[in-house]
Amino acid sequence: MTKPNNILFVCTNARGADKRESCETSHGSSELCKSLRDAAKARGLKPELRVASSSCLGPCHQGPHAVLMPADKWFSGFDATDCETIIDSVQQIITPNTNV
Ligand code: FES
Repeated sequence: MTKPNNILFVCTNARGADKRESCETSHGSSELCKSLRDAAKARGLKPELRVASSSCLGPCHQGPHAVLMPADKWFSGFDATDCETIIDSVQQIITPNTNV
């Protein structure tokens, strides 16, 4: 398997509904992660980019949250209508895969 140069980590952490905000419970980020992965796959970005679900990334409040590494570009407070725009931004930032 080829190592991706860029990983978009999407927080899918779930806390109980009676707990403080979390990306999965409050914003359904598992489905958003799937939409982002599908958008990246449809554009053929797989050698350069992996979209991965993640545990809590830290900020929690005003989520959901995702971060593109190693660029350290954050995406927050998005919904399903933003997924294509996020992948547009990612596509402009990511570095070519040198691990092929
Ligand atoms: S629960 Fe998603 S960043 Fe903390």
